[in-house]
Amino acid sequence: MEFWASSLGQARGEANMRVLITGHDGYIGSVMTPVFLSAGLEVVGLDTGYYQDCSLIPESTRVPEIRKDLRDLTSKDLAGFDAVVHLAALSNDPIGNLNSVWTEQINFQASVRLAQLAKAAGVERFLFSSSCIMYGMSDASWVNEEAPLDPKTAYARSKVLAEQAISKLADDRFSPVFLRNGTVYGLSVRMRFDTVLNNLVGCAVTTGKVVVQSDGKPWRPVIHAQDVARAFLHVLKGPREVIHNQAFNNGEDGMNHQILELAETVARKVPGAAMECRAHADADQRTYRTDFGKFARAFPDFKFRWNIEKGTEELVEAFRKVGLTHADFIDKRFTRLKWVRHLLDSGMLDDSLRWKTQRGGS
Ligand SMILES: NC(=O)c1ccc[n+]([C@@H]2O[C@H](COP(=O)([O-])OP(=O)(O)OC[C@H]3O[C@@H](n4cnc5c(N)ncnc54)[C@H](O)[C@@H]3O)[C@@H](O)[C@H]2O)c1
Repeated sequence: MEFWASSLGQARGEANMRVLITGHDGYIGSVMTPVFLSAGLEVVGLDTGYYQDCSLIPESTRVPEIRKDLRDLTSKDLAGFDAVVHLAALSNDPIGNLNSVWTEQINFQASVRLAQLAKAAGVERFLFSSSCIMYGMSDASWVNEEAPLDPKTAYARSKVLAEQAISKLADDRFSPVFLRNGTVYGLSVRMRFDTVLNNLVGCAVTTGKVVVQSDGKPWRPVIHAQDVARAFLHVLKGPREVIHNQAFNNGEDGMNHQILELAETVARKVPGAAMECRAHADADQRTYRTDFGKFARAFPDFKFRWNIEKGTEELVEAFRKVGLTHADFIDKRFTRLKWVRHLLDSGMLDDSLRWKTQRGGS
């Protein structure tokens, strides 16, 4: 008998699929966990809880969780799972640049070790949350999965190194998959205002201004957190021959937008909001359009449900409902770099970015 059934759901019966989501307490993880639960999967979370005190809206679900630093896992932590979805990371360029050693240790070395432990424990699938940021990009050209990788920051390098090393672990019992996301937007319990569309909407709602920190021309792929979660779920359950050791740009071609287009959409959806372009010399000059053809060919039945209009409306409504103020918008709880600096400055994290005192968890 062939060891592999054609898809993971068939191998164990979907209702019994047991999935470990690392970083389940973060921005994407807080959205993905309920999506996986609704699909009938058994979910266990693993997170050190850096952003435990950073909720914008109430949490609707809790799952059993392992409160641990990714760097301190043992093989016991990985026992009994069918799949691992690996989101935990220092998750953008600014926080990556804070201390590149932490980024390398967590995003690269600990990710590879996690994959090794998972493989040794008999976990069949390993989904790695990667980023389109790893492509060399400066000229608005289209990049597919074969485009040269040219990481420009510690964060981007950590994603490239992790993908390359984890890919080498692939064999007939272990299937890693690399989902390269664009910039994520949308409502989450652990809201972030340091990603572009969330930032534009938050600013517009709380100040009446849509502030673009460049000339607005750069292109970005953007994807809603709910679509990230749904796409991960779809890939997780996909046929092994389609997903095995593959990298996919996660999204569809229409998700590429110029920053100006994002800003104009926000200005339309927030009555009275005025656009302001503050082009400055050190503005982020990255510009690239992501080719999502491989994802569409591999998963022809999958439909992305969100677009920037609908996503902006969702955010505007949610921010009004919670009474988001400008103080909230610029608060350290919703910007990854500011919050980690606060945890360090207040002595809660040590100089290896581990908690000095044990944090609560279930
Ligand atoms: N948000 C985006 O726009 C975006 C885009 C592309 C890729 N990604 C990737 O998706 C993943 C999730 O992103 P996010 O926006 O939810 O980030 P996030 O910062 O909101 O969440 C990351 C989570 O990982 C946890 N974590 C970090 N270091 C850890 C460690 N050493 N041990 C245990 N837990 C740790 C944090 O506590 C946090 O809950 C990341 O890998 C990120 O690189 C995100």
